[in-house]
Amino acid sequence: MLLVSALGVWLAPGAATPARAAGSGEARVAGSVCEAHELKALQEADPHVEIEIPAEFDKPWPSASACASEAAAWDVSAPGPMQPIPFSHKHHAGEFGIDCQYCHSGTDRSRAAGVPSVELCMGCHGQFPAEYDQLVGIQKLKEHWNEKKPIEWQQIHRLPEYVKFRHNRHVSAGLECQQCHGPVEKLDKLYLVPDTQWWPWGMPTAKLEMGWCIKCHRQNDHQASQDCLTCHY
Ligand code: HEC
Ligand code: HEC
Ligand code: HEC
Ligand code: HEC
Ligand code: HEC
Repeated sequence: MLLVSALGVWLAPGAATPARAAGSGEARVAGSVCEAHELKALQEADPHVEIEIPAEFDKPWPSASACASEAAAWDVSAPGPMQPIPFSHKHHAGEFGIDCQYCHSGTDRSRAAGVPSVELCMGCHGQFPAEYDQLVGIQKLKEHWNEKKPIEWQQIHRLPEYVKFRHNRHVSAGLECQQCHGPVEKLDKLYLVPDTQWWPWGMPTAKLEMGWCIKCHRQNDHQASQDCLTCHY
């Protein structure tokens, strides 16, 4: 029984999994730490629900919110491309407050912001307790680490070749990441809105339109160039 439910962890991590009923047909048995969090929440809401949490899954970590964020980062029905690992900005940058530039260290130095290396991820995750290996995202991270292969993140923002854009110039001018990327720290899964949206954020769109760049360059407090050759070769 335990073996079977432990397998369930691999197949369906995160919040969506309904735990299986025990042999008696009464208590619901957790098959992972994430399921244990869900069952405890269920019982809190309805004390009549019978639950059984095997000792190996009765752990505080991974936290309930890590489980929920992982499931949300890999929600096929949410907008945005599916990434090779269910990584959540809401959890890392929001809840844990990890600085954007800790992971995107190129932004103040170079054109490209860049994505973090597997090594940087492992700097934290290599030190986490073994229970974290129940998360499919951590299994995938460690697979990449062991096989020494980079993670092939799907790039979301991409300007056409003929446009010049440098992160470092914008970041050193004092702009916040969010002025151009929206409330990243509130999103489990990143995406671009399909069309121009000026409210509540000047969110960049899939098109990264010229009008979006110029609108900001024109603002008095910015006084950035509107000359064609500033942005075009
Ligand atoms: C500065 C430390 C740190 C770094 C760097 C880091 N993580 Fe995490 N990660 C955490 C913490 C803390 C949690 C949440 C633990 C919890 O709540 O149980 C977490 C949770 C996760 C989870 C569970 C789902 C989620 O996103 O919350 C995955 C998957 C994950 N990290 C993958 C990665 C990957 C991939 C990288 C590199 C791109 C990375 N992490 C870099 C600290 C870090
Ligand atoms: C723990 C590491 C980590 C932190 C902290 C982090 N990011 Fe990321 N970021 C990633 C990874 C990994 C990806 C690629 C996967 C994805 O798109 O979710 C990414 C992707 C992005 C992208 C999309 C890149 C593209 O392909 O176009 C943007 C924009 C971004 N991050 C902005 C931010 C901002 C703004 C913050 C701070 C609020 C931040 N990130 C904090 C790791 C991190
Ligand atoms: C002035 C607007 C602006 C600001 C401010 C800005 N970005 Fe970007 N960002 C962009 C644009 C435009 C692209 C697409 C660049 C391209 O295709 O060459 C991009 C692309 C990215 C990417 C993916 C591609 C790459 O260049 O590696 C990441 C990651 C990213 N930004 C993170 C950040 C972070 C983190 C910050 C804050 C430290 C930030 N950005 C600040 C506009 C901005
Ligand atoms: C949120 C405001 C904002 C947005 C959006 C924005 N910019 Fe800028 N940009 C600035 C500011 C401010 C400066 C002046 C920086 C300086 O000169 O130090 C600047 C300067 C520049 C420069 C001249 C400096 C350099 O790197 O040579 C270029 C080129 C540029 N932006 C391209 C773009 C492009 C392309 C886009 C759209 C994809 C864009 N910007 C979107 C605010 C913005
Ligand atoms: C602040 C940066 C910026 C400035 C200044 C700028 N552009 Fe652009 N331009 C862009 C970006 C970003 C794109 C790509 C996105 C798009 O097509 O809207 C673009 C696209 C274009 C395109 C291709 C449009 C298409 O539909 O394929 C043309 C043509 C163009 N620009 C001409 C100009 C001319 C002429 C000027 C001067 C009057 C100018 N641009 C000034 C950023 C800029």
